[in-house]
Amino acid sequence: MEKYIVNGGKPLRGEVVISGAKNAAVAILPATVLAGDVCVLENVPDISDIHYEIEMLKSIGASVERLGRTRLRIDTSTVNSAVIPHELGVKMRASYYFLGSLLSRFGEGNVPMPGGCDLGARPIDQHLKAFNALGASDELDYAMICVKAEHLRGEHIFFDTVSVGATINAMLAASMAEGTTILENVAKEPHVVDVANFLNTMGADVRGAGTDVIKIRGTRNMHGCTYTIVPDQIEAGTFMVAAAATKGDIWIRNVEPKHLESITSKLRVVGATVTESDDSVHVVGADRYTSTNIKTMPHPGFPTDLQPVMGALLCTAEGTSIITEGIWDSRFKYCDELIKMGASIQVNGRVAVFEGVEKLRPAPVKATDLRAGAALVIAALMAEGQSEIAEIQHVERGYVDIVKKIRALGGDITKVEIPEDALRKAY
Ligand code: UD1
Repeated sequence: MEKYIVNGGKPLRGEVVISGAKNAAVAILPATVLAGDVCVLENVPDISDIHYEIEMLKSIGASVERLGRTRLRIDTSTVNSAVIPHELGVKMRASYYFLGSLLSRFGEGNVPMPGGCDLGARPIDQHLKAFNALGASDELDYAMICVKAEHLRGEHIFFDTVSVGATINAMLAASMAEGTTILENVAKEPHVVDVANFLNTMGADVRGAGTDVIKIRGTRNMHGCTYTIVPDQIEAGTFMVAAAATKGDIWIRNVEPKHLESITSKLRVVGATVTESDDSVHVVGADRYTSTNIKTMPHPGFPTDLQPVMGALLCTAEGTSIITEGIWDSRFKYCDELIKMGASIQVNGRVAVFEGVEKLRPAPVKATDLRAGAALVIAALMAEGQSEIAEIQHVERGYVDIVKKIRALGGDITKVEIPEDALRKAY
């Protein structure tokens, strides 16, 4: 098993280039099915979730060629199956985007019940509601979700809850349906907008992405294209917090500062200095931070995916900070690990109360999910001395070259292979 060894207490300084957005890319790869043609994708993050989706595309007959580390050529003219194999699909949550794209192009999609980070209940009723409204039936057969339609027809769909996944899946399914679909109460995240832009570049007619209402005029005239994926808002936010938490000074390049406003504003409130320019943000840390309260919400609110990293920073902020999780039932597992590092945190359901301590201490900890892992990396960089972080496969699902990027900023982090029995003794 692999672990990170971190010798913390050193400020991160320098510049870091942000990769393509994971949450956009994991929807855009399945969306290439709609083209039935060749798509060249640029700025694709080289992470394990993307490697799994490449395998999924190949498994249904697409040909995928790497043109470089971040460029993929995907030919979906040869797709000859509407079934994502169970063992592949369960590896990640976003495999469910193949439901929307296969349904749209072939009238049928079969995908296993999705896996992904354990953040509490993660229903897909709103995805199915959209498919059903467009005329598809759904059934669960031996843990495979099967959606089928003789004919997809545009509809007016009002989502009961704001869901990134359901909004994107509905856009995929409606893109090739007959007539016009109107989606209301939709998610407005930058990755939703990016997927809409990609669909339009392939010939779709999707308008309004980024607002509460999306209108899609269905077309069968989809085609290949070349498309560059938007920068990763969450990776950028993670490095912004890392700069502040380690009292460092980092230029974060290849970002869209508008997508980062909620984190920029919170970092300023606690006492960091954040300067924005065209495609960069510059974060300079302070000696001590003041406490603050955070409530996570759909975009443009504070993103749930950045609350764990902000939690790490708030461990040592002066006074009492409260984080209220507005999206997921169970997103505070990382707090138990931070407590092992000397943090003072009380968790009650969706609310965590942080009493600022002077400093964090090194400890052996484990990543419980992707963003929890990022929070522990930041906490370990804050704590003077050597920490060990286990279960790092979660972190590597979502961050490109995290070790290399932190080392280039002067952080002391190494990935090591640890024998299983040594790990058992540590916990
Ligand atoms: C996406 C992100 C994830 C992020 C989340 C919220 C990807 C690959 N993942 O996840 O990193 O934490 O958005 O910003 O993009 N819900 C339902 N029924 C549904 C769908 C969702 O009740 O059919 C609920 C969920 O339980 C949750 C809320 O809606 O409480 C938001 O979920 P959603 O936006 O769908 O999250 P994901 O798309 O899974």
